[in-house]
Amino acid sequence: MNKTVLITGGTGLIGMPLTKALLAKGYSVHHLSRSKSSGIEGVKTFEWNIQEDRIDPACLENVGAIIHLAGEGIGSRPWTNRQKKEIIESRTKSIKLIYGLMREMTDHRVEAVISASGVGYYGNRADEILTEDSFPGGDFLAHTCVEWEEVVDEAEELGPRIVKLRTGIVLSEKGGALAKMDAPIKAGLGAPLGSGKQWMPWIHLDDIVALYLHALENEQLEGTYNASSPDIKTNEDFTKSIAKVLNKPLFLPAVPPFALRLLLGEMCALVLNSTRTSSDKIQGTGFNFIFEKLEDALKTIYERKTAG
Ligand SMILES: NC(=O)c1ccc[n+]([C@@H]2O[C@H](COP(=O)([O-])OP(=O)(O)OC[C@H]3O[C@@H](n4cnc5c(N)ncnc54)[C@H](OP(=O)(O)O)[C@@H]3O)[C@@H](O)[C@H]2O)c1
Repeated sequence: MNKTVLITGGTGLIGMPLTKALLAKGYSVHHLSRSKSSGIEGVKTFEWNIQEDRIDPACLENVGAIIHLAGEGIGSRPWTNRQKKEIIESRTKSIKLIYGLMREMTDHRVEAVISASGVGYYGNRADEILTEDSFPGGDFLAHTCVEWEEVVDEAEELGPRIVKLRTGIVLSEKGGALAKMDAPIKAGLGAPLGSGKQWMPWIHLDDIVALYLHALENEQLEGTYNASSPDIKTNEDFTKSIAKVLNKPLFLPAVPPFALRLLLGEMCALVLNSTRTSSDKIQGTGFNFIFEKLEDALKTIYERKTAG
């Protein structure tokens, strides 16, 4: 495979360390971005404007694989109709723009498309163990993931191998969901959310980066994979683990679901949905998680944060 990788959303939480890991392994990296530069030395940045259907065709020059990470933050703003459209189209119209270019270039060299997806695909499923063959949920997040994956699959007719990683909450010292989850605990006001029994799939940032490399370099990977650690926890146990690692007390009663619904509206699905994903399929491909245990992942994150 040609060793130039085009990353969409390469400036984000996953994209930045993935870019650095690819460069360290001798790949050339192209970014497709809304900005002129990603600020990473050695990366060629190409601009696109998804709403205006504008894309720099040079982005595909010599590209052997595409990694599709671009997408409006799921939890960054309230889910108005306009925001929902942005969440979906930033993931679907974007990759369609690239596929449009590939159709025009009869000699494109893209052999693999590896795309993010989310465990939100499954919706709210209590204690059911969810494999990649489980049917999707019916809420907004599930609908988003179904549409995202369907559009990514449109590359089938263009030839490349397609991999979709249904990603759990990415844990990192560099931001993301953990910073929101641990803030009340650090303030001594931590409490489980809702029943606390909802399952929360998670993956350490180092593992999701390693997983993208694994998917890129192992041609036997094809189709969908749950990208979450085997040590899946309920919200209550997750909250207790954070408090234990931070050495903080947990004494408040759980926040009732109605309060979260009132506060977050439909977005409460992000904290109340129960998604008990299985990691068997990805482990069966020979992928070994660096962080299998939640407490080990959290300890490393807070140690790195303290070390700066
Ligand atoms: N982090 C998680 O916990 C998690 C969990 C499940 C799934 N995922 C999925 O994995 C992918 C990467 O996650 P991440 O955490 O690295 O995301 P991120 O930090 O939010 O970065 C995503 C990138 O997408 C681009 N982007 C943002 N809004 C956009 C918009 N409205 N239109 C077009 N491009 C936009 C930005 O790049 P430019 O500014 O350079 O254009 C941004 O750097 C996302 O699709 C996300 O939904 C993440």
